Amino acid sequence: MSTRCPVSAGAAAFDPFGDAYQADPAASLRWSRDEEPVFYSPTIGYWVVTRYEDVKAVFRDNLLFSPSIALEKITPVCDEATSVLARYDYAMARTLVNEDEPEHMPRRRALMDPFTPKELAHHEPMVRRLTREYVDRFVDSGQADLVDEMLWEIPLTVALHFLGVPEEDMDTLREYSIAHTVNTWGRPSPEEQVAVAEAVGRFWQYAGKVLGKLREDPSGHGWMPFSIRVQREKPEVITDSYLHSIMMAGIVAAHETTANAAANAIKLLLENRRAWEEICADPGLIPNAVEECLRHSGSVAAWRRLVTADTSIGGVEIPKGAKLLIVNSSANRDERHFDNADEFDIRRENTADHLTFGYGSHQCMGKNLARMEIQIFLEELTRRLPHLELVPDQTFSYLPNTSFRGPDHLWVRWDPSANPERADPEVLRARHPVRIGEPSKRAISRTVTVREITRAADGVVRVTLSDVHGRQLPAWAPGAHIDIELEGLSRQYSLCGDPDDRGRYEIAVLKEPESRGGSRYAHESLQVGQTLTMRGPRNHFRLDPAAGRYVLVAGGIGITPIIAMADHARAIGKPYEIHYCGRDASTMAFLDRLERDHGDRLTVYVSAEGTRLDIDALLAELAEDAQIYACGPERLLSALDEATGHRPDDFLRVEHFTSTRRDLDPADEHAFDVELRDSGLTLRVAADQTLLDALRAANIDVQSDCEEGLCGSCEASVLDGEVDHRDLVLTKAERGAGKVMMTCCSRARGAKLVLGL
Ligand code: HEM
Ligand code: FES
Repeated sequence: MSTRCPVSAGAAAFDPFGDAYQADPAASLRWSRDEEPVFYSPTIGYWVVTRYEDVKAVFRDNLLFSPSIALEKITPVCDEATSVLARYDYAMARTLVNEDEPEHMPRRRALMDPFTPKELAHHEPMVRRLTREYVDRFVDSGQADLVDEMLWEIPLTVALHFLGVPEEDMDTLREYSIAHTVNTWGRPSPEEQVAVAEAVGRFWQYAGKVLGKLREDPSGHGWMPFSIRVQREKPEVITDSYLHSIMMAGIVAAHETTANAAANAIKLLLENRRAWEEICADPGLIPNAVEECLRHSGSVAAWRRLVTADTSIGGVEIPKGAKLLIVNSSANRDERHFDNADEFDIRRENTADHLTFGYGSHQCMGKNLARMEIQIFLEELTRRLPHLELVPDQTFSYLPNTSFRGPDHLWVRWDPSANPERADPEVLRARHPVRIGEPSKRAISRTVTVREITRAADGVVRVTLSDVHGRQLPAWAPGAHIDIELEGLSRQYSLCGDPDDRGRYEIAVLKEPESRGGSRYAHESLQVGQTLTMRGPRNHFRLDPAAGRYVLVAGGIGITPIIAMADHARAIGKPYEIHYCGRDASTMAFLDRLERDHGDRLTVYVSAEGTRLDIDALLAELAEDAQIYACGPERLLSALDEATGHRPDDFLRVEHFTSTRRDLDPADEHAFDVELRDSGLTLRVAADQTLLDALRAANIDVQSDCEEGLCGSCEASVLDGEVDHRDLVLTKAERGAGKVMMTCCSRARGAKLVLGL
């Protein structure tokens, strides 16, 4: 096939064992993402896939793209190594990761339970204890190779605990455990192959003995005892030889992947000192930082699939029998999916979309154990050694191979006399809760300083905020809001300043007599120079560029998003009009500015002066392609809603800050099934359970933020079934189309939904 395809210069030069790929696989394939996202590499005899959407599509379809070659040795095994393995009766079978259907899914389902967040929580104390013990050993020394002194061994020991290997056998298995990387994905010499074969053979035999012991009493914790119990119920699904194989495979899957990922993460954070300092100051940022490290510099750089029928990927014809190298590290830095993809940003909101754990029905089962381990490593190191730094001028070496990636050594140094625990032993006791599962957007905070507080109207103050370190704040578009913590309460405020000024944000705060405290605090106690915790911005009130005219309706403090929208409409030359209602002119913020900048577009209604917005009259004059954007009291919004019921679906868009979500009352709800097409699972959502909770319990990553139907972050695509929409995010048109739903609050109308997850 290769001879039929013209091979470009870039494709001919591609060498996954060369320096450029080893140093930074994603950077070495930028040319491909831009020019030739699917190409044939004559060097390795594989088709190489480098863009996010294509890599994900290959992971998603495990029938057309079989995983059977995932662990095939890229360099064929020499005869001598083969006979060594035969001597040990080595009979490793396919195990999950390289198994085809219909065998794979029944086994995956049967063996999944110990990986769920609920079960993983039991392992947290063990991981923490091990990490502390290892750090204790070097904390006073001032210098360490973190790979040799911590990161290589802990994931192996954690894996043995996770498997349920008896303590007395751990040392032997640890001794036998070896690096599989070179042998599977590298260019091992025949001598190396023979040495690895010896080690693998010994390991295989000892694993068999341990298994025999566990069979005698499989009542304990761990994946192996669990699997032995499953075997008793389903002997046709989990066979004897399968048990032996997964014992070995479990260790391989859990060990080097996690050790490398942790080393990459610590290296990346120390190279980006400010990010390191930020996680030292706010451990709540660690889960998302871990995810960003996995995205930016993950430990599995590429994976493999076999094409089972003629097909096309990214528009390129690929024949049956072709082998694919799907470069997930390249996909993770694809600008088409991640903004400023090369930038390392621990607050990146969609970072958990990365493909380092694969995707779909073979997605890494151990992902949440790995996430937990790396979080704990970072938490312990940032707390006990915040002054840690990389030893300068060290060169990092990597084992040349296509897939597993992490530095061979990671030398760090610090001044032990400055260890915080010497001054304050309490440091040792502190701990931050681990987040099991995908990171929550709620935790992605930043610290801002109050720059200015000015009066905007009676009972309204305008507050200007900037980043505490003077950095640019995230970009935003009109309609966006931020969450600010005031006296322990999180309150949402629309941004009303200039989106082009990334140095500052402006919000306006109304003093509400019924306030939960936040607004009173902003009026009475907030001081210039004070720092606040902020989250966001988020936007579920965006202007639709397709509208012919924007009709902007504000009631009271609802003017804040509206003023930003009006500024934008004016800047781009879109027809618009503003209708601003209030009780009394003295309480209406920004009137002067609105008069100045939008005078001819502005109509003001002041009830104290007897002027009121006549909704029917307003609607009567509007063209069909106009859109109304409204923010204000619920009364105004529902009046508009009622009056526009017969209009096109997207005619009215409103901003809600409070959800109408009730607690789930099982008496009013029904349970339903949800089939997850990409993951090959069907889950039961109980009557008193949200769909989001059911997904999380089954280890399916879904982002979330508000968890009450307001923010849109928990969206999932719906392939079949009728949705009972309960969010406040989707427009009527979007609901009608039935293609997406918010998993935190919406449910099935009928017995079943099919989702693209
Ligand atoms: C599969 C990566 C840690 C157990 C996989 C796959 C990848 C991967 C890329 C193949 C996914 C696919 O084909 O779609 C990683 C990374 C890790 C890690 C980057 C650490 C950062 C772990 C740990 C365990 C584990 C700690 C076990 C405790 C598994 C298993 C599979 C798998 C059992 C096979 C799942 C299946 O095919 O159904 N992993 N892994 N992994 N991983 Fe991990
Ligand atoms: Fe915000 Fe679901 S998490 S809408």
